[in-house]
Amino acid sequence: MRILITGAGSNIGKGMTARLRAAGHDIVTSDLNRLPDSETFKNLPFVQCDLQAGFGLERAVAGCDLLLHLPAWHGIHWGQKTEVDYWRLNIDGTFFALQAAKEAGVKRVVFLSSTAWYGHYDKYGFTKRIGEELCEYHRRNHGMRYVAVRPNDLTPWGNDWVNRYGSRLLYGGVDREDVLDCIERSVAYLEAPLAEGSEAENVVVHAVRHDPYTEEQLADWENDPQAGLERIYPGSSALAQKYGISLQRKPSVSRADEGAGIIGFKATRHFGVFLEELRRIDAEGGEATVRAVTCSY
Ligand SMILES: NC(=O)c1ccc[n+]([C@@H]2O[C@H](COP(=O)([O-])OP(=O)(O)OC[C@H]3O[C@@H](n4cnc5c(N)ncnc54)[C@H](O)[C@@H]3O)[C@@H](O)[C@H]2O)c1
Repeated sequence: MRILITGAGSNIGKGMTARLRAAGHDIVTSDLNRLPDSETFKNLPFVQCDLQAGFGLERAVAGCDLLLHLPAWHGIHWGQKTEVDYWRLNIDGTFFALQAAKEAGVKRVVFLSSTAWYGHYDKYGFTKRIGEELCEYHRRNHGMRYVAVRPNDLTPWGNDWVNRYGSRLLYGGVDREDVLDCIERSVAYLEAPLAEGSEAENVVVHAVRHDPYTEEQLADWENDPQAGLERIYPGSSALAQKYGISLQRKPSVSRADEGAGIIGFKATRHFGVFLEELRRIDAEGGEATVRAVTCSY
């Protein structure tokens, strides 16, 4: 398919451009800012455009089969951006992008929503509610099929893999690769033609971890977190202590939802996978090697 990625220079945009290119799709990129001079974007068409302005995307979307719409102010922008900023990029920007897609006859959309959707009346969650409604509006009125992907917080690694990545997998974090898997599955799902005579469908899918433990196993976690961890991951509490993994708060439980089943997505990275990796690197290279693990994005 020919796919327009808006906000191609975003964290998710970089990952998805590389993946969808590798999968053989024709990619057209757009962003407010010029894209980095990297292998990911080499030789790809690029249309620079301020989505809030309401024009400029027509050239980019012409001839495309699918829109992957990414730009938004989100959690990390909370302190710097106003309610008006959130409205203008997340709502006006989404509306204008969908309208440009409609005019070009595009019938497939993957929209990046968020689990912030559940924070209905906060300045971010509110915009994702309306963003999904805009997709639904275009489905009902213009026959656009869409998948709304709601990721949890992407786990940043930075310079502290253990605590900026690993520990976060016990709470709201989701591995970025799982989110990219989910978006790739969404694109593949929409690529399949609609069955004869059936209505354009809407799918909502949560791009969240799939934890192998249950609420019951966490019941008295706060009384003795080390014992709780041992119960779920035998032999790991010494490792957690060695690396100062913070366990005081009771972990959250994330589960796949109906949408995941529809598009065929299953998250594969969680705290247990991280622990195995930590154990392996610790055994092979010791603490200095573990401390040197950083993230490239
Ligand atoms: N990062 C997360 O943890 C997370 C979690 C859940 C959902 N999401 C959603 O995923 C999407 C992508 O997130 P990300 O973290 O990859 O984004 P990001 O913050 O890395 O990038 C945002 C992009 O929007 C572009 N942009 C800003 N203003 C623009 C404008 N006026 N016109 C056109 N483009 C503009 C920026 O240039 C940038 O490329 C967002 O919709 C976000 O709400 C992200």
